[in-house]
Amino acid sequence: MPFPVRLNKPSSRAVFQRKFKRVDPKDSRATGAMDETTAFAGWNDIYIPMLFTTMPPIVDELSTNTYKLQQKTVEECLPFLNGQEHPNKCNQHGVPQLDRQNHAQFLHKQLGNFPPQYLAIDASRPWWFYWCLAALSLIGEDISVYTDRMVETARPLQNPGGGFGGGFGQMSHLATSYATVLALMLVGGEESYEMIDRRTMWKWLCSLKQPDGGFQMAVGGEEDVRGAYCAAVIVSLLNLPLELSQDSPAYAAGRRSLFDGLGEWVGKCQTFEGGMSSMPGLEAHGAYTFCALGCLAILDAPHRSLPRYLNVRRLVSWLSSRQYAPEGGFGGRTNKVVDGCYSHWIGGCWPLVEAALNGPPAEATNSSSGHKVDVDSMYSRDGLIRYILCCCQDMSKRGGLRDKPSKLSDAYHTCYVLTGLSSAQHQWRVSSSRPEGSTIDADEWIVLPYLEGEQIFDEDDRIGTAHPVYVIPKHKVDDARNYFRSKLGF
Ligand code: FPP
Ligand code: ZN
Repeated sequence: MPFPVRLNKPSSRAVFQRKFKRVDPKDSRATGAMDETTAFAGWNDIYIPMLFTTMPPIVDELSTNTYKLQQKTVEECLPFLNGQEHPNKCNQHGVPQLDRQNHAQFLHKQLGNFPPQYLAIDASRPWWFYWCLAALSLIGEDISVYTDRMVETARPLQNPGGGFGGGFGQMSHLATSYATVLALMLVGGEESYEMIDRRTMWKWLCSLKQPDGGFQMAVGGEEDVRGAYCAAVIVSLLNLPLELSQDSPAYAAGRRSLFDGLGEWVGKCQTFEGGMSSMPGLEAHGAYTFCALGCLAILDAPHRSLPRYLNVRRLVSWLSSRQYAPEGGFGGRTNKVVDGCYSHWIGGCWPLVEAALNGPPAEATNSSSGHKVDVDSMYSRDGLIRYILCCCQDMSKRGGLRDKPSKLSDAYHTCYVLTGLSSAQHQWRVSSSRPEGSTIDADEWIVLPYLEGEQIFDEDDRIGTAHPVYVIPKHKVDDARNYFRSKLGF
């Protein structure tokens, strides 16, 4: 049965027809219910599309906690989106500048010593290195100064049985191994590469490989799609052999390769909604969807692997429903509110989906219609950029980026909000894909600034790029792969 809906004034049609309006940044009540005269009082030269300054035209009259939270979240974001919160910091599009210096300072501080209350995050230390180094590199900071510290900090985290734990003496885990490997690749160089024991890493990954094709996160731990992605990233970056050791739990079930049955297992995580859940049968979620697509983009070129294992139409439908107006940012799952970190988890899915839809690089044509398939933007990049620059920046002395205005900035959100910003500002393409059937060769990706339409952010605020699959700069991926490719065996 359809939900009862009420249309605000002006009618939804009028809202969408008048694409732009002038907004007075001092006017705190920029709602869809205002008439034009009220909304335009106190003219200045800021132009913001009404889509991002007005309450949604369709109102759900069934008042649930979920709906109330959604309304509260919109109310929280509107003053940031309409320029009222930062009246002197916005450009003519109502978008504040990226406070690069302040965010850099925040990140450098996050790599320092923590007070005792931070004991609880001890097992997540590798994530801290990765989030901070990745974010610093995106905003153009020199991270080479951290090389020695990074190597010496990672060394005791490596276990003799392979992989990295969260701290000295902690058992190896795929999430902390993934974060440590990426952090080492970020600082780069022979010393970082050589400190990873590739043979024990391979052996440990074999012990995590399951008969059904997936990976446990730790020996005896949960098997989920993070495992599939983290294992695929580690195998491909370090150029580990795919051959499965005979004592792997998967070997007895007839598996012979680390990647055997992995695509099929990931495919089972797609839900009726179209997104991916952590494991088969659970709820579709943005973070797991990115992990699933990232894993499939490692197993084969996205134009082959995504349609092979997934219903891409349903995926596109689900992804499209994750972006909200007026917030502009993404939510992670149905009926949940916007959060800056999904700028990456959802935003990062789009280049992979676009690569799948664009087809093989040399033949990017749709033979049935004769039209060139050139999918380069399947979401509102402007909406996302607005949410990030208006709502996610902590503009106080603290700096850093956050989930939403009412939340404190942290290293995790700073990393993934900036990664999402980078993705929205750039366009990634597969320029040459690996030969069909090759699992370990990589596709060649190229990146260009995204320059369609009128640019709403200042050019100075264009940040660096992160590889759409590995989420570290592409040259760091190339350096690592070239280094390990030159090694024969271990
Ligand atoms: C829900 O949080 C969040 C999750 C269920 C996903 C967590 C997983 C990741 C962040 C991915 C990890 C990735 C790798 C590469 C290991 P919530 O319920 O607080 O948020 P929500 O309300 O937005 O769903
Ligand atoms: Zn978040």
